[in-house]
Formats: sequence, C-alpha cells, structure tokens
Amino acid sequence: MQHVTFRLETPLDYANSEFLIREAFWNVYQPGCEEHFIVHNLRGDPQVVESLNLVCTDPEGQLIGHIFYTRSQVQSAPDTSWPVLTFGPISVHPTFQKKGIGSELIRRSMASAKGMGFPGILITGNPAYYHRFGFRPASDYGIVFQDGSSFPELMACELSPGALDNVHGRLLFCPQFSNVDPVALEAFDLHFPPKTRLKKPGQLH
Ligand SMILES: CC(C)(COP(=O)(O)OP(=O)(O)OC[C@H]1O[C@@H](n2cnc3c(N)ncnc32)[C@H](O)[C@@H]1OP(=O)(O)O)[C@@H](O)C(=O)NCCC(=O)NCCS
Repeated sequence: MQHVTFRLETPLDYANSEFLIREAFWNVYQPGCEEHFIVHNLRGDPQVVESLNLVCTDPEGQLIGHIFYTRSQVQSAPDTSWPVLTFGPISVHPTFQKKGIGSELIRRSMASAKGMGFPGILITGNPAYYHRFGFRPASDYGIVFQDGSSFPELMACELSPGALDNVHGRLLFCPQFSNVDPVALEAFDLHFPPKTRLKKPGQLH
C-alpha cells in the first residue's frame, strides 16, 4: 500500500467516485449494482457527512478507494431518537483490494468521527471484516433494524466508551438507501461504460 494518498472527497471527485463505486460493487451483491446511484442521489443532501468522506488515490491521482458517510437515527419512540453515523458504501478498486486500503479508509474516517459528538457508527456488512475495527452486533446494544429484525450483519461501534449504553431502538437509515427506482438506475447507468449484469453465487438478491 505504498505511494497512495488519502484525502477528503471534493465535488471535483464526485463523478470519479461514482465510477469507482460501480467498478467495486458490480455483480458482487446483485446482478449489476445500485450503490453508485444511491451515492449520486444523496449528493448535497444534509444527511451526508462530507467531512468524513475520504478518497484514496494512486501516484497518478486516480481514485482507487472511497468511503461515504451519512447520518442515521436510532429511534425508541416517535419522539425519542439519537443521531448516529453510518458508513457505506466503501469501495476499493478490484485491482487494489486486499492491500489494506479499505482498512485505512475505515480507520482514518473513524478517528475523525470520534471528535464529532456522535455516540457511535451503525452499519450493515460482513462481520468477518468489520469486527477488526471494533464493530459488535447491534443487538448487543438493543439496536435493531428499521423493520424490527435483528441479524449479525447489523453492527455497531461506540465512538467513546459507554456512548451507546443508553441508545436503543430501531435504526433508520436515510430512505434513499432502500428506495432505488430501477428505471432511473438503468438510465443513470447509460452514463457509464457498458457492463454485463450477471447472476452469481453468493449474491444477496
Ligand atoms: C470490502 C472492501 C472495501 C475491502 O477493502 P480492501 O482494501 O480490499 O480490504 P483490506 O485490504 O483493508 O482488508 C482485507 C481483508 O478484508 C477481507 N475482506 C475484504 N472484503 C471482505 C468482505 N466483503 N467480507 C469479508 N471479508 C472481507 C479480506 O479477505 C482480507 O482479510 P485478511 O486481512 O484476513 O486477509 C473491498 O474489498 C471492496 O471494495 N469490495 C467490494 C465492495 C464491497 O463489498 N464493499 C463493502 C460492502 S459491506
């Protein structure tokens, strides 16, 4: 992982970041992917935490890594909720994966998040990867998914000791993560080089 640079994402990076996200996610969790379109739709939204969004560039300045943060809510009653952070998508270009770039994007952004006053970070992902950064099952803190379900891929990490002790309830992500219009996605994809959508083993849907 030598000669790479980590820095904040700027609006000049947006198109390249979305290209990179598509390269990293294409056919991994579903035929094609939607993560690049979700990020595109969230640009400028007040739920995006721009001060935590990082990119990694190679020596030529090409984007090879990206992490994206939004605000979420843990809600225990209609009038009782706590703001928390969520990161994702996180993307490393396939050629550069397993060299520590994803870990560095997570560690650097989590270190910055510590000073921002949020009690914790709530994500979904593969526990085998995220446990190494301090994530535990969200159910350990009494936090469940927005539909009330609980599963190991829903994870939480406190940003200071005990910060999530009194935070419990349903995790509400930005609605843009779950309301992707397939027709609009297909139209958006026309801006990118053509790729074939493939059904592969291990995809989630
Ligand atoms: C996931 C991702 C960001 C990790 O970045 P990376 O730079 O490749 O990861 P690192 O080099 O920091 O870490 C590599 C380790 O993570 C593991 N790992 C990487 N992706 C993983 C995943 N999805 N599930 C479980 N483990 C994973 C590797 O097996 C390796 O394990 P090891 O250290 O025990 O050998 C990158 O692989 C990627 O962009 N994947 C496609 C998009 C994606 O799945 N994003 C995350 C969605 S939750």
